[in-house]
Amino acid sequence: METLNLRNALIEFEKRTPKSQAFIQEANTIMPGGVTANIKFFEPYPIVMQSGNGAYLTDLDGNQYIDYLLSYGALMLGHGHTAIVQAVHNQLAEDGTSLFGTPHRLELDMAQKIQQYYPSMEMIRFTNSGTEATLLAIRMAFAYTGKYKLAKLEGHYHGGYNQVLLSVNPPVAEAGPAHEPRAIIESKGIEPHQVENTVILPFNDLDACAEILKKRKDEIAAVMLEPVQSGFIPADQTFIEGLRKVTDELGILLIFDEVKTGFRMGIGGAQSVYAVKPDITTLGKVIGGGFPVGLIGGKKEIMMVTAPTAASDVFDSSISKKSSSKDVLFHSGTYNGHPTILSAGLAVINVLEQEMDRVMAVTEQLKDGIRELFASKGIGMQTIGLGTIFNVVITEKEHVRNYRDLQESNFSLRKEIDFHLLTEGIYTKPLNRYSMSTAHGEKEISATLDAYERVLFKKI
Ligand SMILES: Cc1ncc(COP(=O)(O)O)c(C=O)c1O
Repeated sequence: METLNLRNALIEFEKRTPKSQAFIQEANTIMPGGVTANIKFFEPYPIVMQSGNGAYLTDLDGNQYIDYLLSYGALMLGHGHTAIVQAVHNQLAEDGTSLFGTPHRLELDMAQKIQQYYPSMEMIRFTNSGTEATLLAIRMAFAYTGKYKLAKLEGHYHGGYNQVLLSVNPPVAEAGPAHEPRAIIESKGIEPHQVENTVILPFNDLDACAEILKKRKDEIAAVMLEPVQSGFIPADQTFIEGLRKVTDELGILLIFDEVKTGFRMGIGGAQSVYAVKPDITTLGKVIGGGFPVGLIGGKKEIMMVTAPTAASDVFDSSISKKSSSKDVLFHSGTYNGHPTILSAGLAVINVLEQEMDRVMAVTEQLKDGIRELFASKGIGMQTIGLGTIFNVVITEKEHVRNYRDLQESNFSLRKEIDFHLLTEGIYTKPLNRYSMSTAHGEKEISATLDAYERVLFKKI
């Protein structure tokens, strides 16, 4: 039910964004819900953006926003950074084409650069999205171990396909006991038997995880998790170290999905913060500089299951085909290792090598400022996060350590605040986390805190 505060915020929101409303109405006639990815949607209608510049977005009605969504964390240099724009221009000019369909120098350059910061990745392959990277990680784990079930953590997101679209945001009442969560399907169209192929584990509960894994060690190929859930709820150090130990002992692979956390918890991702080495890592988002990309890396002996030199795959049509296709793990894609995108990604890393510490410091400054404002208003809240991502969680709970703790927070007040902030020119999709960029500085932090102050003290 809408509160009076939310209703007031929505009235103001609709007054400021008539062109977005009209656009979505028209788009709705040709695209389901008016959008091309459901994540872009929110009620009553999403704001349609026209342009971006640095930390700022401008919508169709000419309203300007400081952007904290940053395309779900992908834009670590903000919008339109000259280093990215130049790299892309230069690469296209130098290559004389946008795509070769052959190996390219930048594939090696980028792989070596990534390995410098993620030494757990002894070998690397590129994909076109985080989804593809996690999909490949699972297939690799199955191929390497000869086991065919995945364990994932409740509340963790790894992309939109059948094996992992389970228990990402389940209704707690249906999700079984906290120490042994039930697998809940998160989309229409997923076969009911999928719940049997993916085992759900409780995040930050090592004893419960260990018990489930021990019971099912002969079926489970790998545990895949976001080391920092949703990019902001950190694993306890003891949990992640314990999970590493237990999986090692049981012959189960450990996959860190660092699509969100890569280059955001620190340049070396969550694995450098925790000093824990996974068997396989997936990356995406930041390393594409705003273009679609994904990457998977891991131990050499695991990664080599996809080497085409060992056996033939479906694209080997020679008479002397060495072996059956099923002897090699299939991995291909027309756009894998796209040179233009790799040039953008390398440009991002070059800038972060200079500026990462500053982004981390600015993030802390904003978190401190928001916390102080809530404290003086007398509302219990925490800015939960590591590195350059955090979330504003309105709760009286002392510790928020997993999905179920988060469900007890006050989403309705947070939503009211978010809509008021939108009308004050602070953009994040309502209820989403905050991601920071090199483009966010003193000016943006101070404007954001002023907006928060007006909302907290005058509007709610
Ligand atoms: C942890 C994690 N894994 C995988 C994905 C899927 O990545 P993509 O949207 O690039 O397919 C996401 C996207 O948000 C993610 O956050």
